[in-house]
Amino acid sequence: MKTLKVALLGCGNVGAQVARILLTDAEVLADRAGATLELTGIAVRNIGAKRDVEVPADLFTTDAEALIDESDIVIELLGGMEPASSLIRRALSRGASVITGNKALLAAQGGELNALAFENNAQLRYEAAVAGAIPILRPIMDSLSGDKITKVMGIVNGTTNFILDAMDSTGAQFDDVLKEAQDLGYAEADPTADVGGHDAASKAAILASLAFHTDFAFEDVHCEGITKITAADVAAAKDAGMVIKLLAIAERSEAGIGVRVHPTLLRRTHPLAAVHGAFNAVFVEAENAGELMFYGAGAGGAPTASAVMGDTVAVARRMASGGPLPAISAQQPVKVMDFCDITT
Ligand code: HSE
Repeated sequence: MKTLKVALLGCGNVGAQVARILLTDAEVLADRAGATLELTGIAVRNIGAKRDVEVPADLFTTDAEALIDESDIVIELLGGMEPASSLIRRALSRGASVITGNKALLAAQGGELNALAFENNAQLRYEAAVAGAIPILRPIMDSLSGDKITKVMGIVNGTTNFILDAMDSTGAQFDDVLKEAQDLGYAEADPTADVGGHDAASKAAILASLAFHTDFAFEDVHCEGITKITAADVAAAKDAGMVIKLLAIAERSEAGIGVRVHPTLLRRTHPLAAVHGAFNAVFVEAENAGELMFYGAGAGGAPTASAVMGDTVAVARRMASGGPLPAISAQQPVKVMDFCDITT
């Protein structure tokens, strides 16, 4: 059986779980991929840092570039723009496959990175970048590629859903629940990205790019967070039979495609109103398929690692069989709306 060398960049919450799965489920992964996935190294900033899972010490290195240059598959879980962008570009330029969960980077440079992968006959996959464990990008790219998507609407940030849900069920104030979400490990290192809606806006740009076969960036998304939502707003919504959710919405109309993130009033009977805690859900409407909903854990180490591993097995299977290129379609020019109708 062929052996594929796998480099892991980053060993935080998600990276540690990816390392655990690669090491403990090696036989199952080899069966599914048709190739042995050999974890050859883990690039980290601080070798001595405390980790959530036990990993053989000799796997750690601070030389990410040397590790990449010896690898067939690179899993980037560093987050942020640099050095993540340069390292991914280095891997793709060598023809290595890359799996990343880096939503901010993809929302800024996704078009360029996909083009670089295509030029180098390399695969780039990022299911973990949107809605954690929920398989949503591949259904949009593959299963719905014969249909025309008209709308994608989702709860794609676990921290804000946790906060709004707790405010709804307990009547608590925003600041009190934010601390709890941080303690549970859902929030970004800087929670402004969550509560300001920026994390959801990056994910909205990725969803819109794939759903509408074009190249949306973070700047194209109208973005409003939940910091101004008070306990009184939540109570008033409740009295009216509604609930406030932070939604990411991308929709096509005759005017173009509008992509937006903002707190939205939903009737309590809407399927998205039933998404509680840090869970995520994405509601998709397509011309022929009609309405679809995808639901699951949107954050957390093991759930997000599940999405990373799904991509890893998928790219390995193609590399082992010499199969075709990934299904990222050629970009099409699409008229982008220059205003957003923010009613729902
Ligand atoms: N901070 C993010 C969230 C993590 O709360 O959903 C997953 O992207």
